[in-house]
Amino acid sequence: MDRVSLTDDLSFSRLVYGMWRLGDDADTSPAHVRAKIDACLDQGITTFDQADIYGGYEAEEILGTAMTPDLRGKMEIVTKCDIVAPAGRYSDARVKYYDTSRAHILASVDHSLRLMKIDHIDTLLIHRPDPMMDHFETGAALDEVVASGKVRTVGVSNFKRHDWTLLQSAMKTPLVTNQIEISVLHHVPFTNGDVAYLQEAGVPIMAWSPLAGGALFEASNAGLRDLLSKIGADHGVDDTAVAVAWLLAHPARIIPVMGTNNLDRIGRIGDAAKVGLDRQTWFEIYTAALGHEVP
Ligand SMILES: NC(=O)c1ccc[n+]([C@@H]2O[C@H](COP(=O)([O-])OP(=O)(O)OC[C@H]3O[C@@H](n4cnc5c(N)ncnc54)[C@H](OP(=O)(O)O)[C@@H]3O)[C@@H](O)[C@H]2O)c1
Repeated sequence: MDRVSLTDDLSFSRLVYGMWRLGDDADTSPAHVRAKIDACLDQGITTFDQADIYGGYEAEEILGTAMTPDLRGKMEIVTKCDIVAPAGRYSDARVKYYDTSRAHILASVDHSLRLMKIDHIDTLLIHRPDPMMDHFETGAALDEVVASGKVRTVGVSNFKRHDWTLLQSAMKTPLVTNQIEISVLHHVPFTNGDVAYLQEAGVPIMAWSPLAGGALFEASNAGLRDLLSKIGADHGVDDTAVAVAWLLAHPARIIPVMGTNNLDRIGRIGDAAKVGLDRQTWFEIYTAALGHEVP
């Protein structure tokens, strides 16, 4: 499995396993969580994506039940903060909102460390752009959690270029990634500038919901799936692997964050890395996704 360098001393596996849906699994036992993590590690997938809010603020704790010092040493752990929704420890919130204050970031980091039973986070992301962000306060708080050793690197998620430059302008620490939605069904980032500015900055991009959160498997997308399956047959892999390989083929160093809870599917996430797509095949898939040829 290829790796992508984020800094001189931190790299992610080219494919990442996301834990948004961890609490949706019928089996959330430590043994089953461990089996999923092992299925990733067996393929060289060592980077795991979390957020404080996942599973109603419970997914980090579910991971924590399976955590051991030995396991921690084999993983890079990404988590996020700033979304406050009326659930779990924020059940008294009157409204869903974003909080990028110093106090919230520091408290959230401490919760994440305690719940996941770890002593540092590899990458902390600001989950959503906050229209109330005081970039000086947020930037200083992110520098502070890095200086404290509780967080190795920081990044963002769902940020536009202007959100990125605003926050980065008030920080000493470089932002190392932006996690945004990209898939064959959500390809607009390739043309609206979201990918271009990160590519220009040489910043690796994490792609969430690379299978469109399961929408790829809806009947309305049968034609696109037939094409992906046909291409996959030539490489000995399934349609899913080709949809992810389509992201890997892009020169911007996209890191897909996969979300399946199914142990068999987890065991095949790495298939995507075995598929090389040439330019014409990439455009064949893009054309099918657009529903018409490019202009
Ligand atoms: N930063 C953000 O704002 C943000 C937002 C959303 C997600 N994320 C991150 O991205 C990760 C991935 O998101 P995601 O879970 O939406 O990713 P995804 O991989 O696009 O979608 C996963 C969904 O697709 C289904 N699926 C996968 N393969 C299938 C198949 N062959 N047939 C039928 N269904 C299939 C899965 O069901 P099964 O479980 O049954 O396989 C699951 O429900 C999350 O875990 C999280 O870490 C981040």
